[in-house]
Amino acid sequence: MSWHIHSWKDRPLSQEVAYDDPEAVAVAVERLSQLPPLVTSWEVERLKQHVAEAQQGKRFILQGGDCAETLDGCQPAIITNKLKILLQMSLVLVHAAQKPVVRVGRLAGQYAKPRSSATEARDGVVLPSYFGDLVNRPSFTPEARRADPRALLDAYGHAALTLNFVRSLAAAGFADLHHPEYWDLAFLSRADLSLDLREEYIRTTKKLSEALRFMEALGEGTVDELTRVDFYTSHEGLNLHYEAAQTRKVPRREGHYLLTTHMPWIGERTRALDGAHVEFFRGVENVVGIKLGSKVEPQEAVKLLTTLSPTNEPGKLVAITRMGAANVERSLPPLVEAVRKAGRRVLWMCDPMHGNTQTLSSGLKTRSFDDILRELELTFAVHRSLGHALGGVHFELTGEDVTECIGGGLTESDLDKNYASVCDPRLNYRQALEMAFRIGGWMSGPKPR
Ligand code: PEP
Ligand code: CO
Repeated sequence: MSWHIHSWKDRPLSQEVAYDDPEAVAVAVERLSQLPPLVTSWEVERLKQHVAEAQQGKRFILQGGDCAETLDGCQPAIITNKLKILLQMSLVLVHAAQKPVVRVGRLAGQYAKPRSSATEARDGVVLPSYFGDLVNRPSFTPEARRADPRALLDAYGHAALTLNFVRSLAAAGFADLHHPEYWDLAFLSRADLSLDLREEYIRTTKKLSEALRFMEALGEGTVDELTRVDFYTSHEGLNLHYEAAQTRKVPRREGHYLLTTHMPWIGERTRALDGAHVEFFRGVENVVGIKLGSKVEPQEAVKLLTTLSPTNEPGKLVAITRMGAANVERSLPPLVEAVRKAGRRVLWMCDPMHGNTQTLSSGLKTRSFDDILRELELTFAVHRSLGHALGGVHFELTGEDVTECIGGGLTESDLDKNYASVCDPRLNYRQALEMAFRIGGWMSGPKPR
């Protein structure tokens, strides 16, 4: 079972991109493989250490960002707002869980999308589906929808620009964001929030603000140490041309590192045991996530985890369950039990978004805030009842004021006000912050409902 950077090419490749110019793909891949890495093996190993600690209950992971990042979205305000909401959510969770929270953005490379159909029909016209800016563009024209090999380099460039800005902002410490009094808590005035919830949020914000001010009073060194803002990147490792081109050996370490991102994950549609994606990702040293939906057979999941980490390395694997609120109680317990019985070491994370997507009669995709909340609540409860803790949460969210998910202040009639996602519906800034407070409520004590 020898592995090499191209051994995936001998396996069935699901979600294969239909490039019409293989020569141009080879040219782009060759150039991509010469360019500098976006992340380093030190950072990858540091994240692995954090995930290993989260597996022991010493840390919690918050992963979030767009469903599909776009090249047009590579703008300072959009990037800053995304980091801001992740940072604010993480502070709420730190406060609730009383442990460090590791922030992992779905950013700087979340440009490739799996689709349920290879083509899309509109008014009798059939074109290839939109597969993310790494492949083609969203406009419904033959030119935009053509799979363009040059997009591989363009996406790499935008990932690098994004990451450069993220690193600068993180190094500067986001000073003002550590002050909860500057947060936009406008959602607190909403009529559907109970008095209890409102008071709980105000209390939490006040305590956070006091704690952060106290740390500041201790002096700069301490604050830097305690509030050091690390951001890790992640994306679905879907386009193996892109991922393989940036996979290499590094000096003084064993194995191969995928250096487009710290934490790639394998999607629900590409996790076939004998498929190309599992073959590729079993050979890299990175922390690897794997999405697990309600239909996964527990023994199949055990085989996947064993294949991806035969040595059972701590911090290596993150099992991201995305069952749908209606399926959690039935499908999650046997899965968790089987993995535990087999002795496979994973960090359990919940993605409460992808099992709860609905299509409205207008054709618009949406998700209900309450379904998302319910999947999380049930997932926390299942893990607790089995004697351990959920180790992380995974959201599609944005720092912008979009109207894509229903609930948390928005109704169906609000959706067309600012539906901006080119793929799945995301939580907006206020919904995401409220979500963090709700999760925080369960983590720190009795449910705030
Ligand atoms: C995603 O995370 O955007 C996604 C497509 O998820 P899944 O593979 O779980 O459907
Ligand atoms: Co999505």
